[in-house]
Amino acid sequence: MSKKPWAGRFTQPTDEFVEAFTASIDFDQRLYRYDIQGSIAHARMLAKQSIITDEEAQTIVSGLESILTDIEEGNFEFSVSLEDIHMNIEAKLIERIGSVGGKLHTARSRNDQVALDIRLYLRDELQTIQDYLDKLQESLLEQAESNLSVIMPGYTHLQTAQPVLFSHHMLAYYEMLRRDAGRLKDLFKRLNLLPLGAGALAGTTFPIDREFVAEQLGFDGVTRNSLDSVSDRDFALEFCGASAILMMHLSRLSEELIIWSSADFDFISLSDSFCTGSSIMPQKKNPDVPELVRGKTGRVYGNMVSLLTVMKALPLAYNKDMQEDKEPLFDTLDTVKGSLKVFADMIAQLTVNADNMREAAARGFSTATDVADYVVRKGIPFRDAHEIVGKTVRYCIENDKDIPELTLEEFRSFSEHIEEDIYDYVTLDASVNSRRATGGTAREAVQREIARARQERSER
Ligand code: ARG
Repeated sequence: MSKKPWAGRFTQPTDEFVEAFTASIDFDQRLYRYDIQGSIAHARMLAKQSIITDEEAQTIVSGLESILTDIEEGNFEFSVSLEDIHMNIEAKLIERIGSVGGKLHTARSRNDQVALDIRLYLRDELQTIQDYLDKLQESLLEQAESNLSVIMPGYTHLQTAQPVLFSHHMLAYYEMLRRDAGRLKDLFKRLNLLPLGAGALAGTTFPIDREFVAEQLGFDGVTRNSLDSVSDRDFALEFCGASAILMMHLSRLSEELIIWSSADFDFISLSDSFCTGSSIMPQKKNPDVPELVRGKTGRVYGNMVSLLTVMKALPLAYNKDMQEDKEPLFDTLDTVKGSLKVFADMIAQLTVNADNMREAAARGFSTATDVADYVVRKGIPFRDAHEIVGKTVRYCIENDKDIPELTLEEFRSFSEHIEEDIYDYVTLDASVNSRRATGGTAREAVQREIARARQERSER
Protein backbone atom coordinates (compact mmCIF):
# COMPACT_ATOMS: atom_id res chain seq x y z
CA MET A 1 0.00 0.00 0.00
CA SER A 2 1.43 3.41 -0.97
CA LYS A 3 1.71 6.09 1.67
CA LYS A 4 -1.09 8.61 1.31
CA PRO A 5 -0.17 12.27 0.84
CA TRP A 6 -2.80 13.17 3.45
CA ALA A 7 -1.92 10.48 6.01
CA GLY A 8 -0.54 12.93 8.61
CA ARG A 9 -3.58 13.24 10.87
CA PHE A 10 -4.62 9.58 10.60
CA THR A 11 -3.78 6.80 13.04
CA GLN A 12 -5.58 3.93 11.28
CA PRO A 13 -5.03 2.79 7.69
CA THR A 14 -7.92 3.08 5.23
CA ASP A 15 -10.16 0.04 5.09
CA GLU A 16 -9.19 -1.89 1.98
CA PHE A 17 -12.66 -1.96 0.52
CA VAL A 18 -13.19 1.72 1.29
CA GLU A 19 -9.96 2.45 -0.51
CA ALA A 20 -11.22 0.80 -3.68
CA PHE A 21 -14.70 2.20 -3.18
CA THR A 22 -13.54 5.81 -2.94
CA ALA A 23 -10.87 5.62 -5.64
CA SER A 24 -11.40 7.20 -9.04
CA ILE A 25 -8.13 6.17 -10.67
CA ASP A 26 -9.82 3.49 -12.79
CA PHE A 27 -11.67 6.16 -14.72
CA ASP A 28 -9.85 9.45 -14.12
CA GLN A 29 -6.51 8.14 -15.39
CA ARG A 30 -7.57 9.36 -18.81
CA LEU A 31 -6.96 12.88 -17.49
CA TYR A 32 -3.23 12.26 -17.07
CA ARG A 33 -2.04 14.47 -19.91
CA TYR A 34 -4.11 17.42 -18.72
CA ASP A 35 -3.10 16.90 -15.11
CA ILE A 36 0.54 17.10 -16.15
CA GLN A 37 -0.05 20.02 -18.50
CA GLY A 38 -1.74 21.94 -15.68
CA SER A 39 0.98 21.05 -13.19
CA ILE A 40 3.73 22.25 -15.51
CA ALA A 41 2.02 25.60 -15.97
CA HIS A 42 1.49 25.83 -12.22
CA ALA A 43 5.16 25.04 -11.44
CA ARG A 44 6.36 27.69 -13.91
CA MET A 45 4.10 30.24 -12.31
CA LEU A 46 5.35 29.32 -8.82
CA ALA A 47 8.91 30.00 -10.02
CA LYS A 48 7.99 33.22 -11.78
CA GLN A 49 6.45 34.42 -8.52
CA SER A 50 9.53 33.29 -6.55
CA ILE A 51 7.41 30.88 -4.53
CA ILE A 52 9.82 28.14 -5.61
CA THR A 53 13.20 28.58 -7.32
CA ASP A 54 13.71 28.32 -11.08
CA GLU A 55 15.85 25.28 -10.49
CA GLU A 56 13.15 23.58 -8.45
CA ALA A 57 10.60 24.36 -11.14
CA GLN A 58 12.91 22.93 -13.79
CA THR A 59 13.36 19.73 -11.81
CA ILE A 60 9.60 19.43 -11.32
CA VAL A 61 8.86 20.08 -15.01
CA SER A 62 11.43 17.51 -16.18
CA GLY A 63 10.06 15.00 -13.69
CA LEU A 64 6.53 15.58 -14.94
CA GLU A 65 7.64 15.26 -18.55
CA SER A 66 9.32 11.93 -17.85
CA ILE A 67 6.15 10.70 -16.14
CA LEU A 68 4.13 11.74 -19.18
CA THR A 69 6.43 9.70 -21.40
CA ASP A 70 6.15 6.71 -19.09
CA ILE A 71 2.36 6.82 -19.03
CA GLU A 72 2.23 7.26 -22.78
CA GLU A 73 4.52 4.27 -23.27
CA GLY A 74 2.55 2.13 -20.88
CA ASN A 75 5.28 2.10 -18.24
CA PHE A 76 3.27 3.50 -15.38
CA GLU A 77 1.45 1.47 -12.82
CA PHE A 78 -1.58 3.24 -11.42
CA SER A 79 -2.26 2.52 -7.80
CA VAL A 80 -5.74 2.32 -6.31
CA SER A 81 -4.42 3.21 -2.89
CA LEU A 82 -3.31 6.54 -4.35
CA GLU A 83 -6.97 7.17 -5.12
CA ASP A 84 -6.90 9.35 -8.20
CA ILE A 85 -4.81 10.57 -11.10
CA HIS A 86 -3.65 13.66 -9.22
CA MET A 87 -2.12 11.75 -6.31
CA ASN A 88 -0.76 8.99 -8.53
CA ILE A 89 1.23 11.49 -10.54
CA GLU A 90 2.31 13.55 -7.55
CA ALA A 91 3.49 10.47 -5.63
CA LYS A 92 5.45 9.28 -8.64
CA LEU A 93 7.00 12.73 -9.02
CA ILE A 94 8.22 12.72 -5.43
CA GLU A 95 9.49 9.18 -5.82
CA ARG A 96 11.40 10.24 -8.92
CA ILE A 97 12.84 13.67 -8.07
CA GLY A 98 12.76 13.56 -4.30
CA SER A 99 11.22 15.92 -1.79
CA VAL A 100 11.32 18.92 -4.14
CA GLY A 101 8.42 17.19 -5.91
CA GLY A 102 6.42 17.94 -2.80
CA LYS A 103 6.62 21.65 -3.60
CA LEU A 104 4.42 21.30 -6.68
CA HIS A 105 1.24 21.27 -4.64
CA THR A 106 2.04 24.64 -3.06
CA ALA A 107 -0.84 27.10 -3.53
CA ARG A 108 -3.02 24.41 -5.02
CA SER A 109 -5.59 21.86 -3.97
CA ARG A 110 -6.94 18.79 -5.70
CA ASN A 111 -10.23 20.66 -5.77
CA ASP A 112 -9.07 23.36 -8.15
CA GLN A 113 -6.73 20.88 -9.83
CA VAL A 114 -9.51 18.48 -10.81
CA ALA A 115 -11.69 21.35 -12.01
CA LEU A 116 -8.80 22.44 -14.21
CA ASP A 117 -8.12 18.95 -15.55
CA ILE A 118 -11.72 18.38 -16.59
CA ARG A 119 -11.88 21.74 -18.34
CA LEU A 120 -8.64 21.10 -20.23
CA TYR A 121 -9.77 17.63 -21.20
CA LEU A 122 -13.24 18.66 -22.31
CA ARG A 123 -11.77 21.53 -24.29
CA ASP A 124 -9.64 19.13 -26.31
CA GLU A 125 -12.43 16.65 -26.80
CA LEU A 126 -14.79 19.40 -27.93
CA GLN A 127 -12.47 20.12 -30.81
CA THR A 128 -12.60 16.47 -31.89
CA ILE A 129 -16.37 16.43 -31.60
CA GLN A 130 -16.64 19.60 -33.69
CA ASP A 131 -14.45 17.93 -36.33
CA TYR A 132 -16.63 14.80 -36.40
CA LEU A 133 -19.75 16.92 -36.49
CA ASP A 134 -18.31 18.77 -39.43
CA LYS A 135 -17.60 15.53 -41.27
CA LEU A 136 -21.15 14.35 -40.80
CA GLN A 137 -22.47 17.68 -42.05
CA GLU A 138 -20.26 17.28 -45.09
CA SER A 139 -21.72 13.82 -45.76
CA LEU A 140 -25.26 15.17 -45.50
CA LEU A 141 -24.43 18.06 -47.78
CA GLU A 142 -22.88 15.78 -50.38
CA GLN A 143 -25.93 13.53 -50.33
CA ALA A 144 -28.08 16.63 -50.84
CA GLU A 145 -25.91 17.80 -53.73
CA SER A 146 -25.82 14.50 -55.55
CA ASN A 147 -29.53 13.65 -55.28
CA LEU A 148 -31.15 16.91 -56.30
CA SER A 149 -33.65 15.27 -58.62
CA VAL A 150 -34.88 12.70 -56.11
CA ILE A 151 -38.40 13.30 -54.87
CA MET A 152 -39.68 11.49 -51.81
CA PRO A 153 -42.84 11.64 -49.75
CA GLY A 154 -42.72 14.17 -46.94
CA TYR A 155 -44.63 13.00 -43.90
CA THR A 156 -46.52 14.26 -40.95
CA HIS A 157 -47.74 11.61 -38.49
CA LEU A 158 -45.77 9.25 -40.78
CA GLN A 159 -48.66 9.67 -43.24
CA THR A 160 -47.87 10.94 -46.72
CA ALA A 161 -48.22 14.71 -46.61
CA GLN A 162 -46.52 16.52 -49.48
CA PRO A 163 -43.70 15.56 -51.82
CA VAL A 164 -40.28 16.93 -50.91
CA LEU A 165 -36.78 16.66 -52.31
CA PHE A 166 -34.61 14.04 -50.67
CA SER A 167 -31.97 16.79 -50.64
CA HIS A 168 -34.30 18.96 -48.62
CA HIS A 169 -34.68 16.18 -46.09
CA MET A 170 -30.90 15.80 -45.81
CA LEU A 171 -30.52 19.53 -45.32
CA ALA A 172 -33.01 19.41 -42.45
CA TYR A 173 -30.46 17.33 -40.56
CA TYR A 174 -27.67 19.61 -41.71
CA GLU A 175 -29.50 22.46 -39.98
CA MET A 176 -29.95 20.48 -36.76
CA LEU A 177 -26.24 19.76 -36.65
CA ARG A 178 -25.49 23.39 -37.37
CA ARG A 179 -27.36 24.32 -34.21
CA ASP A 180 -25.57 21.55 -32.31
CA ALA A 181 -22.22 22.95 -33.42
CA GLY A 182 -23.40 26.39 -32.33
CA ARG A 183 -24.31 25.11 -28.87
CA LEU A 184 -20.87 23.54 -28.44
CA LYS A 185 -19.20 26.72 -29.58
CA ASP A 186 -21.26 28.72 -27.16
CA LEU A 187 -20.53 26.56 -24.12
CA PHE A 188 -16.84 26.74 -24.98
CA LYS A 189 -16.89 30.39 -23.89
CA ARG A 190 -17.87 29.43 -20.35
CA LEU A 191 -15.67 26.36 -20.35
CA ASN A 192 -12.48 28.07 -21.39
CA LEU A 193 -11.70 29.82 -18.09
CA LEU A 194 -9.03 28.87 -15.57
CA PRO A 195 -10.30 27.68 -12.16
CA LEU A 196 -6.81 27.02 -10.76
CA GLY A 197 -5.92 29.37 -7.94
CA ALA A 198 -9.14 28.76 -6.05
CA GLY A 199 -7.21 26.48 -3.74
CA ALA A 200 -9.38 24.17 -1.69
CA LEU A 201 -12.19 26.72 -1.66
CA ALA A 202 -11.12 30.15 -0.36
CA GLY A 203 -8.16 31.10 -2.52
CA THR A 204 -4.53 30.93 -1.45
CA THR A 205 -2.18 32.84 0.82
CA PHE A 206 0.61 32.69 -1.78
CA PRO A 207 1.19 35.53 -4.26
CA ILE A 208 0.14 33.51 -7.32
CA ASP A 209 -0.44 34.86 -10.82
CA ARG A 210 -3.56 33.19 -12.18
CA GLU A 211 -3.59 35.23 -15.39
CA PHE A 212 -0.12 33.94 -16.21
CA VAL A 213 -1.27 30.33 -15.80
CA ALA A 214 -4.38 31.05 -17.84
CA GLU A 215 -2.31 32.44 -20.65
CA GLN A 216 0.10 29.51 -20.65
CA LEU A 217 -2.78 27.08 -20.88
CA GLY A 218 -4.64 28.98 -23.58
CA PHE A 219 -7.60 30.03 -21.45
CA ASP A 220 -9.54 33.17 -22.30
CA GLY A 221 -9.48 34.30 -18.68
CA VAL A 222 -9.83 33.19 -15.07
CA THR A 223 -12.90 32.31 -13.01
CA ARG A 224 -13.96 35.03 -10.58
CA ASN A 225 -14.96 33.32 -7.35
CA SER A 226 -12.97 30.63 -5.59
CA LEU A 227 -16.00 28.91 -4.02
CA ASP A 228 -17.72 28.76 -7.37
CA SER A 229 -14.55 27.71 -9.17
CA VAL A 230 -14.27 24.44 -7.27
CA SER A 231 -18.03 23.79 -7.13
CA ASP A 232 -18.94 24.54 -10.70
CA ARG A 233 -19.65 21.73 -13.13
CA ASP A 234 -21.95 23.75 -15.36
CA PHE A 235 -19.57 23.35 -18.27
CA ALA A 236 -19.89 19.56 -18.04
CA LEU A 237 -23.65 19.84 -17.69
CA GLU A 238 -23.91 22.16 -20.64
CA PHE A 239 -21.94 19.67 -22.65
CA CYS A 240 -24.17 16.80 -21.53
CA GLY A 241 -27.23 18.87 -22.38
CA ALA A 242 -25.94 19.83 -25.81
CA SER A 243 -25.00 16.19 -26.35
CA ALA A 244 -28.47 15.00 -25.39
CA ILE A 245 -29.95 17.29 -28.04
CA LEU A 246 -27.35 16.21 -30.58
CA MET A 247 -28.04 12.54 -29.92
CA MET A 248 -31.77 13.21 -30.17
CA HIS A 249 -31.10 14.46 -33.69
CA LEU A 250 -29.03 11.41 -34.54
CA SER A 251 -31.71 9.13 -33.12
CA ARG A 252 -34.35 10.73 -35.32
CA LEU A 253 -32.17 10.24 -38.35
CA SER A 254 -31.48 6.69 -37.17
CA GLU A 255 -35.18 5.98 -36.96
CA GLU A 256 -35.71 7.25 -40.49
CA LEU A 257 -32.80 5.23 -41.87
CA ILE A 258 -34.20 2.12 -40.21
CA ILE A 259 -37.67 2.72 -41.67
CA TRP A 260 -36.35 3.70 -45.09
CA SER A 261 -34.15 0.64 -45.37
CA SER A 262 -36.96 -1.78 -44.49
CA ALA A 263 -38.22 -3.99 -47.33
CA ASP A 264 -41.60 -2.27 -47.15
CA PHE A 265 -40.18 1.18 -47.82
CA ASP A 266 -36.97 0.33 -49.66
CA PHE A 267 -36.04 4.00 -50.07
CA ILE A 268 -32.36 3.62 -49.30
CA SER A 269 -29.67 0.99 -48.95
CA LEU A 270 -27.12 1.17 -46.21
CA SER A 271 -23.69 -0.10 -47.11
CA ASP A 272 -23.09 -3.70 -46.03
CA SER A 273 -20.25 -2.50 -43.86
CA PHE A 274 -22.71 -0.82 -41.52
CA CYS A 275 -25.12 -3.73 -41.19
CA THR A 276 -25.05 -7.26 -39.85
CA GLY A 277 -26.84 -10.47 -40.66
CA SER A 278 -29.00 -12.79 -38.66
CA SER A 279 -27.72 -16.07 -37.30
CA ILE A 280 -30.97 -17.79 -38.24
CA MET A 281 -32.64 -15.84 -41.08
CA PRO A 282 -30.38 -15.89 -44.12
CA GLN A 283 -32.10 -13.01 -45.89
CA LYS A 284 -31.61 -10.48 -43.10
CA LYS A 285 -29.49 -7.36 -43.31
CA ASN A 286 -30.03 -5.47 -40.11
CA PRO A 287 -29.39 -1.73 -39.71
CA ASP A 288 -27.40 -2.23 -36.52
CA VAL A 289 -25.54 1.05 -36.60
CA PRO A 290 -28.57 3.35 -36.65
CA GLU A 291 -30.32 1.07 -34.17
CA LEU A 292 -27.41 1.26 -31.80
CA VAL A 293 -27.08 5.02 -32.11
CA ARG A 294 -30.81 5.29 -31.41
CA GLY A 295 -30.23 3.12 -28.34
CA LYS A 296 -27.15 4.99 -27.19
CA THR A 297 -29.19 8.19 -27.17
CA GLY A 298 -30.78 6.76 -24.04
CA ARG A 299 -27.53 6.54 -22.15
CA VAL A 300 -26.57 10.08 -23.11
CA TYR A 301 -29.89 11.32 -21.72
CA GLY A 302 -29.21 9.21 -18.65
CA ASN A 303 -25.76 10.72 -18.21
CA MET A 304 -27.21 14.21 -18.28
CA VAL A 305 -29.77 13.33 -15.63
CA SER A 306 -27.08 11.56 -13.55
CA LEU A 307 -24.88 14.60 -13.50
CA LEU A 308 -27.72 17.00 -12.77
CA THR A 309 -28.76 14.75 -9.92
CA VAL A 310 -25.22 14.49 -8.53
CA MET A 311 -24.98 18.27 -8.44
CA LYS A 312 -28.45 18.88 -7.08
CA ALA A 313 -28.48 20.42 -3.62
CA LEU A 314 -24.73 20.09 -3.03
CA PRO A 315 -23.63 22.69 -0.51
CA LEU A 316 -20.64 24.82 -1.47
CA ALA A 317 -17.84 24.12 -2.05
CA TYR A 318 -16.27 20.79 -3.09
CA ASN A 319 -17.97 17.56 -2.05
CA LYS A 320 -16.77 14.07 -2.79
CA ASP A 321 -20.08 13.51 -4.60
CA MET A 322 -18.51 15.49 -7.41
CA GLN A 323 -16.12 12.68 -8.20
CA GLU A 324 -19.22 11.11 -9.74
CA ASP A 325 -19.10 13.79 -12.45
CA LYS A 326 -16.51 11.94 -14.49
CA GLU A 327 -18.13 8.73 -15.64
CA PRO A 328 -21.26 10.35 -17.08
CA LEU A 329 -19.14 13.00 -18.75
CA PHE A 330 -16.60 10.56 -20.17
CA ASP A 331 -19.29 8.17 -21.33
CA THR A 332 -21.10 11.01 -23.07
CA LEU A 333 -17.92 12.08 -24.82
CA ASP A 334 -17.15 8.54 -25.98
CA THR A 335 -20.70 7.90 -27.11
CA VAL A 336 -21.09 11.16 -29.00
CA LYS A 337 -17.71 10.81 -30.68
CA GLY A 338 -18.38 7.23 -31.73
CA SER A 339 -21.87 7.98 -32.98
CA LEU A 340 -20.78 10.96 -35.06
CA LYS A 341 -17.83 9.12 -36.49
CA VAL A 342 -19.80 6.10 -37.61
CA PHE A 343 -22.63 8.25 -38.94
CA ALA A 344 -20.37 10.40 -41.10
CA ASP A 345 -19.16 7.35 -43.01
CA MET A 346 -22.51 5.61 -43.08
CA ILE A 347 -24.32 8.63 -44.54
CA ALA A 348 -21.56 9.13 -47.09
CA GLN A 349 -21.98 5.55 -48.30
CA LEU A 350 -25.76 5.40 -48.29
CA THR A 351 -27.42 4.89 -51.67
CA VAL A 352 -30.80 6.19 -52.65
CA ASN A 353 -33.49 4.17 -54.42
CA ALA A 354 -34.92 7.11 -56.32
CA ASP A 355 -37.64 5.22 -58.19
CA ASN A 356 -39.13 3.80 -55.03
CA MET A 357 -39.14 7.17 -53.37
CA ARG A 358 -40.82 8.81 -56.33
CA GLU A 359 -43.42 6.05 -56.55
CA ALA A 360 -44.22 6.40 -52.88
CA ALA A 361 -44.40 10.17 -53.20
CA ALA A 362 -47.01 9.79 -55.92
CA ARG A 363 -49.22 7.70 -53.64
CA GLY A 364 -51.31 9.03 -50.78
CA PHE A 365 -52.69 12.03 -52.69
CA SER A 366 -49.59 13.99 -51.86
CA THR A 367 -50.53 16.82 -54.22
CA ALA A 368 -53.96 17.43 -52.68
CA THR A 369 -52.71 20.64 -51.06
CA ASP A 370 -51.60 21.83 -54.49
CA VAL A 371 -55.15 21.44 -55.80
CA ALA A 372 -56.46 23.35 -52.78
CA ASP A 373 -53.91 26.14 -53.34
CA TYR A 374 -54.94 26.23 -57.01
CA VAL A 375 -58.58 26.75 -56.10
CA VAL A 376 -57.59 29.41 -53.57
CA ARG A 377 -55.77 31.29 -56.31
CA LYS A 378 -59.12 31.38 -58.16
CA GLY A 379 -60.50 33.43 -55.28
CA ILE A 380 -62.02 30.70 -53.08
CA PRO A 381 -61.34 30.94 -49.32
CA PHE A 382 -58.84 28.30 -48.17
CA ARG A 383 -61.32 26.56 -45.85
CA ASP A 384 -63.79 26.06 -48.71
CA ALA A 385 -60.98 24.90 -50.97
CA HIS A 386 -59.99 22.38 -48.32
CA GLU A 387 -63.54 20.98 -48.30
CA ILE A 388 -63.63 20.81 -52.11
CA VAL A 389 -60.39 18.88 -52.31
CA GLY A 390 -61.37 16.68 -49.37
CA LYS A 391 -64.37 15.54 -51.38
CA THR A 392 -62.18 15.11 -54.44
CA VAL A 393 -59.87 12.81 -52.46
CA ARG A 394 -62.82 10.81 -51.17
CA TYR A 395 -64.02 10.41 -54.75
CA CYS A 396 -60.53 9.22 -55.73
CA ILE A 397 -60.48 6.67 -52.92
CA GLU A 398 -63.93 5.36 -53.83
CA ASN A 399 -63.04 5.11 -57.51
CA ASP A 400 -59.51 3.90 -57.02
CA LYS A 401 -57.97 6.84 -58.87
CA ASP A 402 -55.10 9.16 -58.24
CA ILE A 403 -55.49 12.95 -58.39
CA PRO A 404 -53.58 13.47 -61.65
CA GLU A 405 -55.69 10.70 -63.24
CA LEU A 406 -58.97 12.59 -62.83
CA THR A 407 -60.50 13.95 -66.01
CA LEU A 408 -61.16 17.67 -66.21
CA GLU A 409 -64.87 16.88 -66.00
CA GLU A 410 -64.34 14.99 -62.77
CA PHE A 411 -62.29 17.87 -61.37
CA ARG A 412 -64.93 20.35 -62.39
CA SER A 413 -67.67 18.37 -60.68
CA PHE A 414 -66.04 19.53 -57.43
CA SER A 415 -65.26 23.08 -58.49
CA GLU A 416 -66.03 24.87 -61.71
CA HIS A 417 -62.99 27.05 -61.06
CA ILE A 418 -60.75 24.20 -62.08
CA GLU A 419 -59.46 24.42 -65.61
CA GLU A 420 -57.19 22.54 -67.99
CA ASP A 421 -54.04 23.99 -66.40
CA ILE A 422 -54.72 22.05 -63.19
CA TYR A 423 -52.57 19.28 -64.65
CA ASP A 424 -49.57 21.61 -64.52
CA TYR A 425 -49.93 21.75 -60.75
CA VAL A 426 -50.56 18.21 -59.68
CA THR A 427 -47.36 16.54 -60.79
CA LEU A 428 -44.73 15.78 -58.19
CA ASP A 429 -42.17 18.06 -59.79
CA ALA A 430 -44.62 20.95 -60.04
CA SER A 431 -45.67 20.47 -56.45
CA VAL A 432 -42.08 20.45 -55.19
CA ASN A 433 -40.82 23.24 -57.39
CA SER A 434 -43.62 25.64 -56.56
CA ARG A 435 -42.42 25.94 -52.95
CA ARG A 436 -39.79 28.49 -53.74
CA ALA A 437 -39.66 30.80 -50.73
CA THR A 438 -36.57 30.57 -48.51
CA GLY A 439 -36.52 27.28 -46.67
CA GLY A 440 -38.99 25.60 -49.06
CA THR A 441 -38.45 22.35 -50.92
CA ALA A 442 -38.30 23.73 -54.48
CA ARG A 443 -35.16 22.70 -56.27
CA GLU A 444 -34.04 26.31 -56.64
CA ALA A 445 -34.65 27.03 -52.95
CA VAL A 446 -32.74 23.90 -51.96
CA GLN A 447 -29.90 24.83 -54.30
CA ARG A 448 -29.73 28.23 -52.67
CA GLU A 449 -29.40 26.59 -49.24
CA ILE A 450 -26.72 24.23 -50.50
CA ALA A 451 -24.80 27.20 -51.88
CA ARG A 452 -25.25 29.01 -48.59
CA ALA A 453 -23.92 26.04 -46.65
CA ARG A 454 -20.97 25.74 -49.02
CA GLN A 455 -20.22 29.43 -48.66
CA GLU A 456 -20.44 29.26 -44.88
CA ARG A 457 -18.13 26.25 -44.77
CA SER A 458 -15.56 27.85 -47.02
CA GLU A 459 -15.42 30.85 -44.69
CA ARG A 460 -14.75 28.72 -41.62
N1 ARG B 1 -10.68 12.49 -7.29
C1 ARG B 1 -11.29 13.69 -6.87
C2 ARG B 1 -12.46 14.02 -7.78
O1 ARG B 1 -12.52 13.50 -8.80
C3 ARG B 1 -10.33 14.83 -6.89
C4 ARG B 1 -10.65 15.90 -5.91
C5 ARG B 1 -10.54 15.34 -4.55
N2 ARG B 1 -10.60 16.34 -3.56
C6 ARG B 1 -10.83 16.00 -2.27
N3 ARG B 1 -10.83 16.95 -1.43
N4 ARG B 1 -11.09 14.77 -1.94
O2 ARG B 1 -13.30 14.81 -7.45
